[in-house]
Amino acid sequence: MKIAIAGYGTVGGGVARILEKNAQTIARRAGQPLELGAILVRRDFPGDPFESRMVRDFSAIENDDATQLVVETIGGCGVALDICTRALRRGKHVVTANKQLVAEHGAELIALAQRHGCQFLFEASVGGGIPVLHPLNECLDANIITDVTGILNGTTNYILTQMLENGAEYADALAQAQQLGYAEADPTADVEGIDAGRKACILADIAYGRQIPPERVSMRGISGITALDARFAAAAGMKIKLLGRAVRAPGGVYVFVCPHFIPQTQMLACVGDVFNAVSVSGSEVGNVVFYGPGAGRFPTASAVVGDLIDIARNPNRPQPVCWEPDGAAALLDADDHPARFFVRSRDTREALEQVLGKIDWLPEQEGVNGGFTAETTRRALDESGAALDAVYPVYEL
Ligand code: HSE
Repeated sequence: MKIAIAGYGTVGGGVARILEKNAQTIARRAGQPLELGAILVRRDFPGDPFESRMVRDFSAIENDDATQLVVETIGGCGVALDICTRALRRGKHVVTANKQLVAEHGAELIALAQRHGCQFLFEASVGGGIPVLHPLNECLDANIITDVTGILNGTTNYILTQMLENGAEYADALAQAQQLGYAEADPTADVEGIDAGRKACILADIAYGRQIPPERVSMRGISGITALDARFAAAAGMKIKLLGRAVRAPGGVYVFVCPHFIPQTQMLACVGDVFNAVSVSGSEVGNVVFYGPGAGRFPTASAVVGDLIDIARNPNRPQPVCWEPDGAAALLDADDHPARFFVRSRDTREALEQVLGKIDWLPEQEGVNGGFTAETTRRALDESGAALDAVYPVYEL
């Protein structure tokens, strides 16, 4: 089976190298050799081992009938969407690592693949190298999925670990994450929770069977977390982690991203550096957790090549992962999601308890009060009028 790669960056380059390095094993597992054809690039790569395969115009790939499979590793929803659409219309299978594309256009690309008798797979779009979408879509099929919660962004988990556990400065930790190939070209999507939000949407799409529109999902990032918050968390025996969540509730699903306090006894609290973990609760299986490297060249490329092998083994099966287009109506407002919250304030304990009710106080830090509310909602805290400097939900499975 002949494969073209569109986009020769961190992940695309990793795919080319794995296809070459593990060619024999891949051929045995796929039942046929996976032959690397053209690589679509935007600039020259003088001296690159794959230089002779590089093309600048996607038409060369689109019009080559021998190329049956296109890997999209460009990113974003501009050129990437155009290329995927054109490839699927020509009946070529598409494998992508592009979470923005899947979160925003998954339903339409799936429908296009179905219409043209080919497959659109995207295991690498969530959790980097962790196999999570295939298990969620296949092995856990017997279950009503009630909760999917994960550390879904490697860059922010790396930054939080370096800052809160190793004393690094934010800017240095971010620069390291960029150097290691974890961060997006523009790391705003990482640090503001947008990348994790897109991945939470994809998990929700599979788990709930409808496309959740990312633009309607509440996404909070890590930029507001302070060393003071980390000290309160430590005093409570907890960690602060950026979680993406999709929680089934009567009448719909909550999908949101924000930093959480997590008791150190929970598995997600132990996930450090670039690692991701996704905890899935199903009606029959109970709770299962998927853990592994959440970003980086070879882990992400590993997931892409896994999809290529999967298609080569089953080229004629119908599109294996599907959801309906309109999930907007099912989306519940994250501000109404019930939880206990950590709150921090310079106000007195008495004044705070007057408006918020009983609070489970932690030892004061630098003259600041912090503690845990009883179960409430972010909306109720916002509307209480309490002078709160920080509000984080507590994650308790
Ligand atoms: N920037 C992403 C992350 C890459 O840090 O998780 C993997 O999707």
